[in-house]
Amino acid sequence: MIKVVKVDNATEAADKAFEVMKEYIKPGKVLGLATGSTPLGLYERMVKDHKENGTSYKEIKTFNLDEYVGLPITHPESYYAFMHRNLFDQIDIIEENTHVPSGLGEDLEAQAKHYDEMIDKDPVDIQLLGIGSDGHIAFNEPGTPFDSGTHVTDLAESTIRDNCRFFDNDMSKVPTQSVTQGIGTIMKAKNILLIATGANKAQAVKDMIEGPVDEACPASVLQKHPNVIVIVDEAAASMLK
Ligand code: GLP
Repeated sequence: MIKVVKVDNATEAADKAFEVMKEYIKPGKVLGLATGSTPLGLYERMVKDHKENGTSYKEIKTFNLDEYVGLPITHPESYYAFMHRNLFDQIDIIEENTHVPSGLGEDLEAQAKHYDEMIDKDPVDIQLLGIGSDGHIAFNEPGTPFDSGTHVTDLAESTIRDNCRFFDNDMSKVPTQSVTQGIGTIMKAKNILLIATGANKAQAVKDMIEGPVDEACPASVLQKHPNVIVIVDEAAASMLK
């Protein structure tokens, strides 16, 4: 079931997301984390809360959703680097307790399988998600089977176009493949928190919430999950009934 929380703008969305997330920043919890520009406001609030209130991450584990294939972790746009820059390096989390899928190595499919095994051992208490303009979650593009595990996949052209702003606006610099948690992996999380802001997400938000549950809109699978909160700002909610 999806609970929709409408707010005015991205700042309020981050405030609300932090309010939800705060309940899970406790010893023993497992957080599922996401990249993209949408979660940045939430991460800023988590960092501020750690610095000002001493909220500790020492006994928290994290699993990220995805990573580009072939991008060195030292590349500033690798999701590994993104997470370290925007969150991990600014809180007291223990490196060994953080997990970002690796897009480098000899056997990416075997590594992906191992990633799912690690998640099965430490089930995710709350999974944070953004949404792509084509309705993708993590890098599960339209057509991805709902029962998929972590796997290697091609990026849709629209996603390459959306993400080229991080690569000098040059589509040829955007990696064409990623390793991503599958839709089946994401659905195992006990709770899901999805944030969507901005007008370019309006159609995807409508399809996710009001459309049929169909692989053409990967996020529509969330209608089948028992505990989902979707925080939308006015622009992203503009096409909802
Ligand atoms: C990327 C990520 C997704 C993210 C999406 C939206 O493709 N793999 O996890 O939700 O883009 O990104 P943004 O928040 O920057 O709009």
